[in-house]
Amino acid sequence: MIEIKNLTKVYRTPTQEVLALDDVSLSINKGEIFGIIGLSGAGKSTLIRCINMLEKPTSGSILVGGQNITSLSKHELRFARQKIGMIFQHFNLLSSRTVFDNVLFPLEIARKPSQEARKKVESLLELVGLADKAKVFPDQLSGGQKQRVGIARALANDPQILLSDEATSALDPQTTRSILKLLKDINRQLDITILLITHDMNVIKQVCDRVAVIDNSRIVEVGDVLTMFSNPGTSTSRSFISAVMKNELPEDLANFQTDLDHQHSCVVRVSFIGPSAGEPIISSMLRKFDITSNILFGNIDRVKDTPFGNLILELIGDAAILAQAMDYLRSKGLEIEVLKND
Ligand SMILES: Nc1ncnc2c1ncn2[C@@H]1O[C@H](COP(=O)(O)OP(=O)(O)O)[C@@H](O)[C@H]1O
Ligand SMILES: [Mg+2]
Repeated sequence: MIEIKNLTKVYRTPTQEVLALDDVSLSINKGEIFGIIGLSGAGKSTLIRCINMLEKPTSGSILVGGQNITSLSKHELRFARQKIGMIFQHFNLLSSRTVFDNVLFPLEIARKPSQEARKKVESLLELVGLADKAKVFPDQLSGGQKQRVGIARALANDPQILLSDEATSALDPQTTRSILKLLKDINRQLDITILLITHDMNVIKQVCDRVAVIDNSRIVEVGDVLTMFSNPGTSTSRSFISAVMKNELPEDLANFQTDLDHQHSCVVRVSFIGPSAGEPIISSMLRKFDITSNILFGNIDRVKDTPFGNLILELIGDAAILAQAMDYLRSKGLEIEVLKND
């Protein structure tokens, strides 16, 4: 749906040149919710602004639905932009217009016949749960309601793609959850591809199918969200994940030592994803191998709609048997990381 190839963006100011995007290539599939996470200044907004052509790339190409949008005429661009909706951190509503007229605005610009346009606005306000706020002005709305207006407005011209630039960053966690749920519903019901950028791994965790990590103007990692959570490939993704998952070995357990009595001990983190979170794999391992186990830590979380569990176990026994037991767990599809091995 979106094909970004070797995209580079350099900002030239009178005093300096800033390389904001450095050879970025990404492929975003139709119908998915794709997240891009990075620290402030990493280049996220620049990337999203290149996709809707608010910024002109320095080099590289961006194909949307097979059309190279970097080489469109002004006239063609106007139509291409209608197929891309955008929502913003600070909502960007027109304060002098009612909720209804804010959502109507893009339809006026597209010169939609008035009656058809008014019908569309009504159905969009229904969709975002604001049918009763049509005549209200933005300053009478909560942050979450303002973002719902922003979403309705972004959907006015039936876009194929919805871009979101930190759309929940100004909202509290509970409101964030309800807006993310709305985005998930829209993605499913209307089959719209959603690209969202954020600095918050919680957002990625709650709604995204795939994620790219951007660090210092470059994409350093791309993958399925569940895979990244169970097996982050870079220190950047590891630090984002540890901010939202309690999966570090708690400090008081790091120096934990069982009286070994000539046996071997190792501490492992076992990650469970999806259906295996409900299976008694650990107990069958303990039955199969002559080892004992101490549960040091455990929790179950959700990544998008999938259960994701973490267990930290101390395993005690003969070194060779411990290795076999870990191979057994891996063969059952569990992710195993050895945290300590004495
Ligand atoms: N209009 C601009 N002129 C010059 N530098 C810019 C401009 N916009 C962004 N930058 C710089 O480009 C880099 C990436 O910025 P941005 O894309 O806004 O990052 P993010 O959205 O990840 O915080 C930063 O170093 C920023 O200072
Ligand atoms: Mg930004």
